[in-house]
Amino acid sequence: MLRSALSIGLVSATVLLGGAALTGSASAEPGAAPAQSQHTRYPADSLRALGDRVGLRIGTAVNMDELGSNAEYTRITAEQFSSVTAENVMKWQLVEPNRGTYDWAAADRLVDFAKKNKQLVRGHTLVWHSQLPTWLSSDGYTTTLSNDELKALLKKHVQDQAKHFKGDIWQWDVVNEAFNDDGTPRETIWYKAWGGLGYIADAFRWARQADPKALLFYNDYNLEFTGPKSNAVYDFVKTLKAQRVPIDGVGFQGHLDTQYGFPDLQANLQRFADLGLKVAETEVDVRTFTEAAPNVNTPTNPLAVYAQESYWSRALKACLAIRECISFTPWGFGDTYSWIPGWFDDPQEGAALLYDADLKPKSQYYVIQQDLALAAGAPRRADGGPGRH
Ligand code: G3I
Repeated sequence: MLRSALSIGLVSATVLLGGAALTGSASAEPGAAPAQSQHTRYPADSLRALGDRVGLRIGTAVNMDELGSNAEYTRITAEQFSSVTAENVMKWQLVEPNRGTYDWAAADRLVDFAKKNKQLVRGHTLVWHSQLPTWLSSDGYTTTLSNDELKALLKKHVQDQAKHFKGDIWQWDVVNEAFNDDGTPRETIWYKAWGGLGYIADAFRWARQADPKALLFYNDYNLEFTGPKSNAVYDFVKTLKAQRVPIDGVGFQGHLDTQYGFPDLQANLQRFADLGLKVAETEVDVRTFTEAAPNVNTPTNPLAVYAQESYWSRALKACLAIRECISFTPWGFGDTYSWIPGWFDDPQEGAALLYDADLKPKSQYYVIQQDLALAAGAPRRADGGPGRH
């Protein structure tokens, strides 16, 4: 039922929603007032309004250099999304650039924005090996600090940050990217200090004590594909659950690439959900080969867009089909702000997001919008609301 309803969305050009034709709010005539949803200021055909109908939060990573200063960027963030993730400003490097002095300003600004716009916040991220302050480690794998110092520092960091945002965070990415693609543990400064993966259970316990209502997630990439990494993380979180470590969910980042086959994502979401966990797609983007600079967001093969549309649609539908999948979050929404062109530049890739470099919605946006509009048969999320109850 769900599958057939959703597949119609791919060929349907216009959908009736509550008697009003979907227009694609972002494509409305300049100056035209978009249809408003009943209770708030966002359009009835926005991604967030459509997701609300099945209790699915549609999120975005937010670039705090743009929010508030770029009017169009700010408007889209408020209108289209019901959840926000700090792309960078909650990372250790940004919140404690100098040892002992916190700077919460940018992150607080995001939390305030979310409250004003009735959005939930995904906190990203408490424990990671990347984007650490240089006083702690320049690469995440080496440090001049002793193991005892590292243990005390991580405890203080998790507790202080979770306490600072207590009550404001819906889902915390407590630990990010602790495994390698071959399924072995990543041998970061944390792994070495603890002599194993024990830091992860500790971090979840500290986070739970500091903010008992936040949903606590393990977050990683390439969990989408069944293979050594997804299997290792599956076994690991199963062990955490058995040990009563307070983990509530697993985040599937979802950095997809059209040069690879589409992963068996739904099956992987399902098997983690079957462990009694919530799941979420937390950092979705779909990159493809593009021209070199400066045209890094023009696909070299114009037909690539069809693959991108299909990948976006299948990624969303995998989440929609599973009641425990509580949020679907693209990693930003304007190709200019995407991390992809800067990271994958040989060969060049890009064009990975739903909006182009001028912040105009791409065909991928409309595919997602149509899928959501036709998702009424999907299970209502078990928990679309804030925090643990
Ligand atoms: O803050 C400095 C700024 O002072 C300096 O002028 C500028 C010059 O390059 O760099 C700025 O830092 C950059 C930072 O983003 C903030 O913009 C770093 O160089 C840059 O490496 C960093 O990239 C971020 C990356 O994580 C770091 O690993 C990306 O924006 C961000 O999208 C990306 O997000 C990660 C998730 O957190 C975890 N999963 C993978 C995902 C993609 O890598």
